Amino acid sequence: MKVIMEDIISLSKRRGFVFQTSEIYGGLAGFYDYGPLGVELVNNLKSAWWDAMVKEKTNIYGIDGAIIQNPLLWKASGHIDGFSDPMVEDVVTHKRYRADHLAGIDSNDLVELERLLKNVKSPDGNKLSQPRYFNMMMQTWIGPVTDDAAKAYLRPETAGAIYTNFLNVKESMRAKLPFGIAQIGKAFRNEISPRDFIFRVRELEQMEMQYFIDPKIEEDVYEEWRQFAWNFLIDKVGIQKDNLSWHEHEENERAHYAKAAHDIYFNFPQGPKELWGTHDRTDFDLSNHTRVSGKDLSYIDEVSKTKFIPYVIESSVGVGRLLLAVLCDSYTKETVNNDERIVLKIKPSLAPYKVAVSPLLKNKPELVELAEKIFKDLKARFGMVMWDDNGNIGKRYRRQDEIGTPFCVTIDFNSLEDDSVTIRDRDTTLQQRINSSKLISYIEEKLAI
Ligand code: GAP
Repeated sequence: MKVIMEDIISLSKRRGFVFQTSEIYGGLAGFYDYGPLGVELVNNLKSAWWDAMVKEKTNIYGIDGAIIQNPLLWKASGHIDGFSDPMVEDVVTHKRYRADHLAGIDSNDLVELERLLKNVKSPDGNKLSQPRYFNMMMQTWIGPVTDDAAKAYLRPETAGAIYTNFLNVKESMRAKLPFGIAQIGKAFRNEISPRDFIFRVRELEQMEMQYFIDPKIEEDVYEEWRQFAWNFLIDKVGIQKDNLSWHEHEENERAHYAKAAHDIYFNFPQGPKELWGTHDRTDFDLSNHTRVSGKDLSYIDEVSKTKFIPYVIESSVGVGRLLLAVLCDSYTKETVNNDERIVLKIKPSLAPYKVAVSPLLKNKPELVELAEKIFKDLKARFGMVMWDDNGNIGKRYRRQDEIGTPFCVTIDFNSLEDDSVTIRDRDTTLQQRINSSKLISYIEEKLAI
């Protein structure tokens, strides 16, 4: 089924996944807020990544660095001079556009872009300026004086604080190569043309891990982390394999720090686009930080006694972009018993709500009393449990389907007799009766898959 972005945007707003930032003031381009269901999905995705990356591994350590770092960090990393996208300007309206987007190619090469855009007009039908680079660093000032000496930057990627903490983590954790440092956090990019809902935003959140290695094992480790990303998306996020593909960066596409880069593309409604990047950053970062900071960030191998600057293999994915992929991948319109339904077939462990509990009739106190007891027990175990006694059962099921709740439990008159309840499966719509004492273990088992 081809998913349309308008359907995803509409569902996101209607059911509380994603809202426009400052909506009552007309919004702000490139910024979004997560609603009650969105924040649950965000947190579940972050937990799944943190578990797989930090908790299940023995040599990856987590940190949480500051968003604003010493500006010298961004000078050394090359971002102040090189973190740019090619831009063209409509010479009449002065609206700015990504040159590579208008040209329809993945390239930063100004000569090639100029050639391709020679006879192209802006979306408003006007002449375009020559392509030039636009730096995407977001600036601010620290302290009361807004002069150059007080200038600072909101980080454009979370990786920076990982490099500057390489020695701290190595020493405090007595870490030996190979080891990794992982971080989840906000990053900011003054994107020329934020677009496609939360696909390209100016305030984003990243999940990044930098793996520090002896250069000798560069190729094998690069392959391992490419595979990690692919397996994580399929096994831990439940994304359909058919929606994923590999894209290897050509030289003119790669970021200034990367020797090699492989993206996993997801079939977004606007086409296959980057979801997750694996980059070989060689010794680019630690060498430059050694040079600019004057601190020696090299490593001495205990066995061979050789001294070298570790290479870095990076694994990087945007949280919002992953959430968008999950919504698009799981959004399904289907007809069940002549009735059309929208259902989010999200992996149960990631669903914002795990269970909904309903008394068959809300005006029968004995049903409500038993349902409330079951609701409390489930809530104590699963946290995100919804009470829903509004409208008929069919409508309740449709509401839960639309937000991806994997199970609906209904308490009816039989429940009063024999303690059994019906549990209905979101994907198959099948209902079965089970004893209420078995509910928790039944749901636990399904969530563990
Ligand atoms: N540290 C490496 C790095 O930042 P990147 O390819 O620029 O590499 C990594 O970004 C990931 O962050 C991307 O694969 C994407 O998932 C996410 N991302 C990047 N820019 C984004 C934006 N403007 N809006 C949303 N997500 C973005």
